[in-house]
Amino acid sequence: MTGNDLKIYRAEILHFLADPAEVGDADSYEYFPDGVLIVKNGQVQAVGPSRDLLPNLPPESEVVHHRDCLILPGFVDCHVHYPQTEMVAAYGEQLLEWLETYTFPTEREFADANKARKVAEIFLDELLRNGTTTAMAVATVHTASVDAFFSAARTRRMRMICGKVLMDRNAPEYLTDTPERGYRESKELIERWHGKGRLQYAVTPRFAPTCSDAQLAKAGQLLREHPDLYLHTHLAENLDEVKWVKKLFPQCSGYLDVYAHFDLLGKRSIFAHCIHLTDEEFKLLHRTGSGIAFCPTSNLFLGSGLFRLAKAEAEAINVGLGTDTGAGTSFSLLQTINEAYKTQQLQKHRLSPLKSLYLATLGGARSLDLQERIGNFLPGKEADFVVLDYRATPILDLRLERCTQIADKLFVLAMLGDDRAVKATYVLGDEAYFRNYCTV
Ligand code: GUN
Ligand code: ZN
Repeated sequence: MTGNDLKIYRAEILHFLADPAEVGDADSYEYFPDGVLIVKNGQVQAVGPSRDLLPNLPPESEVVHHRDCLILPGFVDCHVHYPQTEMVAAYGEQLLEWLETYTFPTEREFADANKARKVAEIFLDELLRNGTTTAMAVATVHTASVDAFFSAARTRRMRMICGKVLMDRNAPEYLTDTPERGYRESKELIERWHGKGRLQYAVTPRFAPTCSDAQLAKAGQLLREHPDLYLHTHLAENLDEVKWVKKLFPQCSGYLDVYAHFDLLGKRSIFAHCIHLTDEEFKLLHRTGSGIAFCPTSNLFLGSGLFRLAKAEAEAINVGLGTDTGAGTSFSLLQTINEAYKTQQLQKHRLSPLKSLYLATLGGARSLDLQERIGNFLPGKEADFVVLDYRATPILDLRLERCTQIADKLFVLAMLGDDRAVKATYVLGDEAYFRNYCTV
């Protein structure tokens, strides 16, 4: 192998090839205790043991060696609200009151393009500090909020999905559009951004309670006119919300049926939360190939309930993790796994360390229908990755001394790690973030 465009990284390396719940732990991943990742023109060229790969490299090759570190594919956040960055940790309310009291007034400020630009930059830098390289993000109703987000993502070359919120009722006037305006503005944004580099557009009706029939019909029309778009919304997060939807849409058999009625289900549709689903709704998600964003820190913070991961697994539904900040309380997928584990403990279900890191990487990529591009280190994949530091904090260092198996190390990293454990984040093979302080 020759060429200056070759980049070579050495560390412990782990990536997933399949869902541990489907194929069993042992066949779900590849792990190289002393591994090498070779990147060419931003794509993975090879991954494997250093003893096999290093001898074939040109003798003058520069190898970046991350000692005492683990390289994983970049984390995938399947549901997050970038405009809520400043209002994370807002006290005291459950979903519907939380939206009225804190969320809507904060989102109002995104009519100002300068404000949107500032927060988009802070938000994307925060993702990189946490090892997240792909996200499906909600903007606000304002087109300026989407423009600001996509231009900041383009500068950073991150793979991002985003869309303008559609919302035409049951919200303050300053945050509502109309079915026609929402359609027209979405069209303009799709033209401007969808498929440009690593950016993709999601049609984003906020949730059924804030959308009229006419607006949901327009959302369906956009998806029919552009079959490779995403659909991104909330579903069955809170019991009062579910009751409200039944009242607003009496002609539908339940919450998911509202979205089904307007043709919004499919393999590029992501539904956040899905806590209070019926058995039939689980089955319909499976039949349509729709994905779920499991958002444990948010579900606990707003007191929404416990997501039934075991049920979703049994019904073979694609699930990814979402931080859902600002209802979620952390940008870190490691901390999100930590809380996910506890939500499953409360249901007597064990979320294994391998399954949880699968969810944060390949599982998320599959939920977003991006498994051909990201999620692991198979040759040709986009080379986004995170370098986790086993010695990031004194307690991590101490605790990891007792771990001999990779699964044990993953568990400890997820329970005790957060942004401090991220030594570096790489986008398309290039350093996008490098932690600027020294530890032990
Ligand atoms: N449902 C409708 N909008 C929102 C939101 O902004 N956050 C959460 N967690 N749920 C929602
Ligand atoms: Zn949300």
